[in-house]
Amino acid sequence: MALVPSGVSPLVKVGFKVLVETGAGTAAGFPDEQYVQKGAKIAASRDEILAADVLLQVRAAGANASRAADDVGRLRSGALVIATCDPLGEPKSAEPYAAAGVTLLALELLPRITRAQSMDILSSMATVAGYRAVLVAAEALPKMFPMMMTAAGTLAPARVFVVGAGVAGLQAIATAKRLGAVVSAYDVRAAVKEQCQSLGAKFVELQLDTGQTEDKGGYAQVMDEQFYEKQREMMTRVVAESDVVITTAAVPGKKAPILLTRPMVEGMAPGSVVMDLAAERGGNCELTRPGETVVHSGVTILGPANLASEVPYHASQMYSKNITTFLLHLVDKNKIKLDLDDEIVRDTLITHRGHVVNERVCELLGITPLADVPEEKPSSDEPAEADEPQGDIYDIKKDD
Ligand code: NAI
Repeated sequence: MALVPSGVSPLVKVGFKVLVETGAGTAAGFPDEQYVQKGAKIAASRDEILAADVLLQVRAAGANASRAADDVGRLRSGALVIATCDPLGEPKSAEPYAAAGVTLLALELLPRITRAQSMDILSSMATVAGYRAVLVAAEALPKMFPMMMTAAGTLAPARVFVVGAGVAGLQAIATAKRLGAVVSAYDVRAAVKEQCQSLGAKFVELQLDTGQTEDKGGYAQVMDEQFYEKQREMMTRVVAESDVVITTAAVPGKKAPILLTRPMVEGMAPGSVVMDLAAERGGNCELTRPGETVVHSGVTILGPANLASEVPYHASQMYSKNITTFLLHLVDKNKIKLDLDDEIVRDTLITHRGHVVNERVCELLGITPLADVPEEKPSSDEPAEADEPQGDIYDIKKDD
């Protein structure tokens, strides 16, 4: 759910009239009455929702294959849609939004900067997914996680290996440790070694040249096939000794690297589990099938499609906080302003005034981005002050 009841009040306070789709929060644990208590109205139909000036969604455009095509034709020209949109995976999905005159903002493209941390849905969903991944893997494993010394003998703790120690990986380490497993971890970014250790994991040292593995933004870079070949070779022993391997390794905007091959899986003990959190991005394991469970030589390979949705209450709470913070960031004196000098706006803006305007999306579509994003002058008769940031301005409070 894109907005939880506690997210309504801050929006009402700046002048928004909040409309919620009937029953939209029910499955996540937020009944309609709670929204009404906070000052929202429940919409009579989906059409009423789609006619809004600003639409907050969990998934739109390329991230919502089942509904986006139908929804986009019912949106108002000039409307603002804020959602996850998979703009880099499905760049063509932006085109109908441009044609409809809709301004589409994709939250996945928020810059990973301190200023945008409280809007960062990727971190929020990765946190939930990392936690949930361990619980699902633990259920699939025919062993318990903690060491137990019982009258019936001593039970060894489960050994969990986490590959990729970004947001999801670190949360997986913390969760597996809380359950009592012995955890090891690896990441190509040497900087995360200390973070893994501080959570109680042993950092696996591989003799790989990791000098060029991190970009300026702190993300992993794509490495050549030779590097991955060597990494797989060096990880083989650790993988074979693990009861659970959780892979989260990703390179933004690229297909996930294959780090677990068929022979590596065949080297694991029967009953072991591979939890591939990179399944939606192509998978880190050669045998992963997105959204499915595969059993190969007794090893269960899980490729869940959207783990965060399995913890809907807290996933919604975090998403709602992120999306409302983003929307409020656009509000200045009861008006929504798209300040194109602000990288938070510039990076997330996909379509505007009839065009696909995002540089990265344009590149994928093979079109030249416009030199300047088309602008609309303020609707009031007063000219914008010279020192005001450039960009579109939308009134929030409208006369009824
Ligand atoms: P992600 O989901 O893109 O990737 C997950 C992890 O996989 C990363 O840690 C990456 O280094 C690792 N990886 C890539 N290739 C690998 C390989 N061959 N073997 C092993 N591991 C591999 O990353 P995520 O979790 O979204 O964020 C990663 C980093 O982004 C953070 O550690 C931080 O530097 C930065 N970040 C910054 C934020 C901010 O300042 N607002 C918020 C969140 C993340």
